[in-house]
Amino acid sequence: MELKLVFDSKLPSTEVHLYSCFQKTHDVKEATKKTSKKEAVKKEEKSLSHAHWSKELVEEFEFSVASKHFKADMGETFSFTHLNGSTVIILGLGEKGKITREQLRKQFATLYKAIHNKYEDMTIHLDGFMLKDDAEGTLKAITEALHLSDYAFDRHLSAKRKTKMTAVTLLTEEKKTHQKKWDAVLAETKTVTNSINFARDLVNEAPNILNSESYAKEIEKDAKKLKNVKVKILGKAEMKKEKMGMFLSVNAGSAYEPQLVHLTYTPSKATAKTKHIALVGKGLTFDTGGYSLKPGASMMNMKFDMAGSATVYAAFRAAVELQLPIKISCFLGMTDNAVNSLATMPDSIVTARNGKTVEILNTDAEGRLVLGDVVNYACDVNPDAIIDAATLTGAILVALGSEVCGLFSNNDKLAKELLDSAKASDEYMWQLPIIDEHKNDMKSVVADLKNIGSVGNGGSAKGAAFIQAFLKNDIPWAHLDIAGVGDSQGHLPYCPNKGASGLVVRSLVNYLQNV
Ligand code: BES
Ligand code: MN
Ligand code: ZN
Repeated sequence: MELKLVFDSKLPSTEVHLYSCFQKTHDVKEATKKTSKKEAVKKEEKSLSHAHWSKELVEEFEFSVASKHFKADMGETFSFTHLNGSTVIILGLGEKGKITREQLRKQFATLYKAIHNKYEDMTIHLDGFMLKDDAEGTLKAITEALHLSDYAFDRHLSAKRKTKMTAVTLLTEEKKTHQKKWDAVLAETKTVTNSINFARDLVNEAPNILNSESYAKEIEKDAKKLKNVKVKILGKAEMKKEKMGMFLSVNAGSAYEPQLVHLTYTPSKATAKTKHIALVGKGLTFDTGGYSLKPGASMMNMKFDMAGSATVYAAFRAAVELQLPIKISCFLGMTDNAVNSLATMPDSIVTARNGKTVEILNTDAEGRLVLGDVVNYACDVNPDAIIDAATLTGAILVALGSEVCGLFSNNDKLAKELLDSAKASDEYMWQLPIIDEHKNDMKSVVADLKNIGSVGNGGSAKGAAFIQAFLKNDIPWAHLDIAGVGDSQGHLPYCPNKGASGLVVRSLVNYLQNV
């Protein structure tokens, strides 16, 4: 679907014309002067508010008998056929002035999904949808909603999804002076949502097709198209040289080589003062649990255990396409967690890249083993901050529900910046603590550390505490546990019911834009 912005008062001849409509509450005192107070409350009525409709539209709307039942409740729609044959859809958005950006995003996603298979093109009469003092936020929310709803993972279906909608016009009668800025917002949103949909494809791909080797190749192929980006891939031999004993232990039972994809973006005008951010992602192309095997039902969908790596790569890719003025290093740790006679057995003791010994008591707590070594490796490029994303623990769903991303950090400033970015992107993120007691519970009797706590509670924080043990030089670090928000976000109409959500990418891009 192509989206364009048109500054004109002439109506394009599209099949659909979309207008907004709000509710306005009547002034009670005025309307019911002579009645008692009790009645006055009862008589408080809502009427429709649509200042931006043309006279013809108002007439046609009122001419339709059924329109008197339309109350403009949030999400309520009313449609009729215009005299020239086009379809007019009125989208109710509730009380005037009350709608939030996220509600607008949701309403557009719901509407788009409802009609994109029925019509070929649509004109959105933008001026009636503008949020107060937030034209750019409005544009962003609407275009995000459309692009993110225009996604389906249908590459393995014989009958491909057919989308009829090929063109959407955002029509405005605003001053042309806005055009440059608004076009830029549209282009930026397209860049970010493209990356999100790219990440969704990676996460949704089946594990017999997307394994560590094919995954690394795909990233390399894509990254080669990006400007100012260098790609380096470490395989098993290189990781052995790097002494990444934890990462290698997860890969021990795999038919595929472990891959550590190391991407570096250096902006054109980099100086010694240029900020440098490192992104790290968990890329478990499948998590069987290893010898600590997952029960069948819990193993289902564990192809999505590489969502952390897809998330940070999507943010990296978008940041590069936007040519942001910061340096970004991106590290993707790829392997599956499989079982064969060589697979790591529980009770094994391995040595991490930083020399610490680790007792592996549960081979299903594998993400932290991969991330510990990769985060340690990331410290060597000496970034100003490291942010990792991982589907690390089922416990984060217990703590925060599947709707909220868990945040852990050793640095309050970085944590706040990420929370602010999440808020600005209308994504849920919540910080949880890593206390010394959590760290202590990760100490082993026979090795420096063990990979699960003695007490099962607080599993997400203890996983985070484990990763933290491999940081160097007090580099500000944040860990995002996306096990909940990474997939199945059906409550968000701009995410598919099942499968990769693509959440957190917008927050990360916002962070990279503002750092
Ligand atoms: N990939 C899982 C975490 C996960 C679980 C993601 C459910 C999404 C849904 C991770 O590798 C894992 O298995 N974690 C264990 C840790 C435990 C063994 C300490 C878990 O959460 O059960
Ligand atoms: Mn696991
Ligand atoms: Zn896992």
